[in-house]
Amino acid sequence: MTEIEITPADAADAEAIAAVHVASWETTYRGLVPATLLAGMTLERRVTQWRMRLDAVDGGRFVRVARRFDGEIVGMVQAGSARTVGDFAEWELDVLYVLDRHHGAGVGRRLMTAAVEEARAKGAASLGLWVVAGNVRAFAFYRRGGAVVVTERVAGEVTESFLEHGLRIDLARR
Ligand SMILES: CC(C)(COP(=O)(O)OP(=O)(O)OC[C@H]1O[C@@H](n2cnc3c(N)ncnc32)[C@H](O)[C@@H]1OP(=O)(O)O)[C@@H](O)C(=O)NCCC(=O)NCCS
Repeated sequence: MTEIEITPADAADAEAIAAVHVASWETTYRGLVPATLLAGMTLERRVTQWRMRLDAVDGGRFVRVARRFDGEIVGMVQAGSARTVGDFAEWELDVLYVLDRHHGAGVGRRLMTAAVEEARAKGAASLGLWVVAGNVRAFAFYRRGGAVVVTERVAGEVTESFLEHGLRIDLARR
């Protein structure tokens, strides 16, 4: 099995993380979210976003990457205090992606654990997140990790909307 480390990221990782983000969106959301939304999430746009995040311009969120022994980044997690889940959780999981060829090897769980530990260390009692309806793998993964469905919302544009489920993990009980 390929050895993988969970490590902090720095500004030099922005391109590699953005590439994982774009590839994961394509394999995960094609057919689940409007094609225009997918088309808009270009590599260039993601690189800009990740540069801002890693420079802490974007509110200083918690970021960790999954790095192979050869340095290749194969997954990432981003979390922080609630932004859009404030009605049902104290902390929010913004991003969790693992390249599909590494699925099922425990990488997602290790990234998730890093975010959960950070949320707990910051005193949060709950972690909330959104899952796109039909993302069966992610749904099963989070349920396996103790998440429960607490709400739902309609995302996207009026004419090209899609449903998301709001999930909460009770950190005191894990
Ligand atoms: C969802 C995702 C992060 C899970 O990461 P992963 O590395 O594949 O999952 P892991 O191997 O760490 O699995 C952790 C646990 O979840 C379970 N699990 C994972 N996928 C599952 C599935 N499809 N069905 C049932 N259980 C599943 C595993 O069995 C494991 O449980 P165990 O440790 O008790 O055996 C990853 O598949 C992914 O990046 N998917 C695409 C992007 C995505 O949907 N991200 C989430 C957006 S909200």
